[in-house]
Amino acid sequence: MDAVELFAPLGPTYDRYARLLSFGQDPRWRRFLVSRLEVGAGDTVLDVATGTAAVAIELARRSGCRVVGLDQSPAMLETGHRRVAAAGLSDRIELIEGTAERLPFEDDSFDGLTFTYLLRYVDDPAATMRELARVLRPGAVIAMLEFGVPRGLARPAWELYVRAGLPLLGAVVSPGWRRVGSFLGPSIRELHQRYDLVDLWREAGIDDVRQRRLSLGGGVVVWGRRA
Ligand SMILES: C[S@@+](CC[C@H](N)C(=O)[O-])C[C@H]1O[C@@H](n2cnc3c(N)ncnc32)[C@H](O)[C@@H]1O
Repeated sequence: MDAVELFAPLGPTYDRYARLLSFGQDPRWRRFLVSRLEVGAGDTVLDVATGTAAVAIELARRSGCRVVGLDQSPAMLETGHRRVAAAGLSDRIELIEGTAERLPFEDDSFDGLTFTYLLRYVDDPAATMRELARVLRPGAVIAMLEFGVPRGLARPAWELYVRAGLPLLGAVVSPGWRRVGSFLGPSIRELHQRYDLVDLWREAGIDDVRQRRLSLGGGVVVWGRRA
């Protein structure tokens, strides 16, 4: 299913259910993601796939930087605009509609870059990584958050959750969340079967690539520095 269609009905309820369906871990993962960046007041960070602007708000609050949040879903951005205004951050966070595959920015434009749950939705993750690296100034930090596949004893529990629990819980919430609940498990599995994220990043011209698995591997944060 097309990502724009998938996210269209989710904006108003996204934050509440994303937290619930990740057992409350999602905000903690975002905080770790944001802590990887080395930015302060006077810097500008690009947050790609910003959705309802949760990462953008955390970035602006934590470091005092300016943030440009980009997403291809008008519905998610609409909720994002409301959240940014409610947080009193409209002067430092700008939200724009656009796609990660063709960023509307010059080379070397940003002092930091974050993206969350993006690579499962693009046709060519390697090309998208090169496009993200292009707009980052050399030496600046890029960091991403993605769902992971736990290993060892946690794996069977994860399989049970994504095969049965998540589709069922999603169906209880709404038809839109039922689609997400059924789509997520196979989509997460496929990303990690097809790609070694660290290799993907290095091939895009990112150095010092590091990875941290969080919550038994249910979340993965990858970060590095543009060469
Ligand atoms: C699961 S949401 C994550 C939102 C937010 N970053 C967060 O942490 O909650 C994924 C977002 O990626 C956006 N997205 C998917 N593919 C995209 C693309 N190619 N370009 C820009 N945004 C995209 C979707 O519209 C959606 O808002």
